[in-house]
Amino acid sequence: MGRVLPFTGQEADPGVLLDVDNVTLQYKTDSRLVTATYQVDFQVHRGDRFVLLGPSGCGKSSLLKAVAGFIKPVEGQIRLNGAPVTGPGPDRMVVFQEFDQLLPWKTVFQNVMFPLRSRGVPKREAEDRAGTYIAKVGLDRFRDSYPHILSGGMKQRVAIARAMATEPEILLMDEPFAALDALTRRRMQEELLQLWDDVRFTVLFVTHSIEEAIIVGNRILVLSPHPGQVKAELNAHSYGHEKSEGFAALENRIHTMLFAEQNTAPAPKVTRAARP
Ligand SMILES: Nc1ncnc2c1ncn2[C@@H]1O[C@H](COP(=O)(O)OP(=O)(O)OP(=O)(O)O)[C@@H](O)[C@H]1O
Ligand SMILES: [Mg+2]
Repeated sequence: MGRVLPFTGQEADPGVLLDVDNVTLQYKTDSRLVTATYQVDFQVHRGDRFVLLGPSGCGKSSLLKAVAGFIKPVEGQIRLNGAPVTGPGPDRMVVFQEFDQLLPWKTVFQNVMFPLRSRGVPKREAEDRAGTYIAKVGLDRFRDSYPHILSGGMKQRVAIARAMATEPEILLMDEPFAALDALTRRRMQEELLQLWDDVRFTVLFVTHSIEEAIIVGNRILVLSPHPGQVKAELNAHSYGHEKSEGFAALENRIHTMLFAEQNTAPAPKVTRAARP
């Protein structure tokens, strides 16, 4: 296992749910080989809100796809509950950035029901679970609506409810709020934290926003620019939107870390606008 010292003979920490062990990801195109990530190593514990943070093109989505089982590492291994990930499975559900993840010809309720029924969850139980999670994301009134009448934020709430209703071992979220306006994005971050307080799921969350990483995450893996390598793994002590000194210090630290990689000039300080 990734971080077990060989001489101790100890097994991996039993709290580890996902072990991404020295993972290198590559794409073959017609003309060349693209290395997306290089020897990336991290472990997600049960109940973590684990954030992958890094600049565009550093391989965040690729890592998420590898965990989802859509692509295979050329080096290293990914394990879930100790078992190698060899393909997609019901224990991992993905929420993407795009608003068009829902089936447009199905209502909110039918969208949430769909993966449950296709996995053989009995009808009554599926209906109960769909109703519960639609309520948890605050969309009770829209359960019989079709996606085209929903706002972007509401569509993302449905996608989250749909993924969570399947009760996966780990929820994989790839910039789920990036296409929303700033206010809705903020509200959705808050709602995700409330949902986590309520249900205590495990989430692997991808973002390129330092602020979002600190708000959402309890652990943050900072990746270098392309090809992505681990720069640091940090604790983010559940700051939420709290603009404390600790929040600002962590924001500055990560900013410097990411900026220093791309420029030799000293990183500018992150400044905060004073509240009116
Ligand atoms: N299907 C593909 N074929 C070839 N190269 C790819 C493919 N998908 C991604 N890449 C390359 O792999 C690298 C990592 O891409 P990836 O999409 O994982 O980055 P990212 O961190 O998610 O970026 P962004 O923040 O822009 O979403 C990039 O150089 C990208 O061009
Ligand atoms: Mg991406």
